Amino acid sequence: MDEPKHVSVLLDECIKNLNIRPDGVYVDGTLGLGGHSLEIARRLENGRLVCIDRDETAIERAGKRLEAFREKISFVHGNFSDTAEILRSLGIQGADGMLFDLGVSSPQLDETQRGFSYQHDAPLDMRMDVSSALTAFEVVNGWDENRLNRILWDYGEERYARRITAAIMARRAEKPIETTGELVEIIRGAMPSAALREKQHPAKRSFQAIRIAVNDELGEIERMMDTAPDLLNPGGRLCVISFHSLEDRIVKNGVARREKGCTCPREAPVCTCGFVQTLRNVTKKPILPSEEEIKGNPRARSAKLRVAERV
Ligand SMILES: C[S@@+](CC[C@H](N)C(=O)[O-])C[C@H]1O[C@@H](n2cnc3c(N)ncnc32)[C@H](O)[C@@H]1O
Ligand SMILES: [Zn+2]
Repeated sequence: MDEPKHVSVLLDECIKNLNIRPDGVYVDGTLGLGGHSLEIARRLENGRLVCIDRDETAIERAGKRLEAFREKISFVHGNFSDTAEILRSLGIQGADGMLFDLGVSSPQLDETQRGFSYQHDAPLDMRMDVSSALTAFEVVNGWDENRLNRILWDYGEERYARRITAAIMARRAEKPIETTGELVEIIRGAMPSAALREKQHPAKRSFQAIRIAVNDELGEIERMMDTAPDLLNPGGRLCVISFHSLEDRIVKNGVARREKGCTCPREAPVCTCGFVQTLRNVTKKPILPSEEEIKGNPRARSAKLRVAERV
């Protein structure tokens, strides 16, 4: 098998910030092609690495790539929002580092039949986990007008959300929308011609929105931020790479909430909220890829790495 053409984003920065100890326990919550995991595994002696992905094909593919480190690794087909339970079920009490590299992987985009890409005609699917129930077909053909409009606006920041939703509703009234190609054509038809001349593909924002909805991506990140850091050992690091502002905001707020600790009013004589500080930001500003990395890998352009440490 050819080595997949794929470059892991902010790889050196992640490895450096995870502070890997040869006997530590690490979690890669978004295994993908295993580029980050490979570099973690290489640095382990008696340590352990837990690799999670909700896409079963990622587990299979990266499993082969990481074959040489097999005895140090536990592969789990699951959701990173369940990281805490997954670790507990493996009998792991605490981790020394966790990495989450959000979004879709290049194979998900390249396997055109999965319907993630607006550049190829395929059934409307977009599920990262093909065993989950909700597909893009259901979102596009089943969700009501308000809900559709809201996701295009909120998750896609699509200024023509109303027009696009109206066009989808009109087509649906005639017959179901079956493929990504049909959807692209409907989106194009709904947009003013000036918008069609923009550099960005006219369907890019809508496809992002539908993908986020199908996979409940923001909800999963929120649940992860609420629970996974509790399983970090003191001094353990949390590294999260996000690719758009909606993801980054959840990560940033999640860390801020944990950094703040007690939320009782300043004048309260004793703490009644019970919140204690669990994280501190390692860098105030997120870490961005170098110009050089962006040149070699355009996908890195919008990446932001946030690093926090368990106190
Ligand atoms: C950007 S890729 C990771 C690439 C990887 N770091 C590498 O170097 O090859 C993101 C991966 O995370 C997975 N993923 C996204 N959301 C997830 C979730 N909530 N739980 C588990 N895996 C998820 C996707 O299926 C995809 O394979
Ligand atoms: Zn309090």
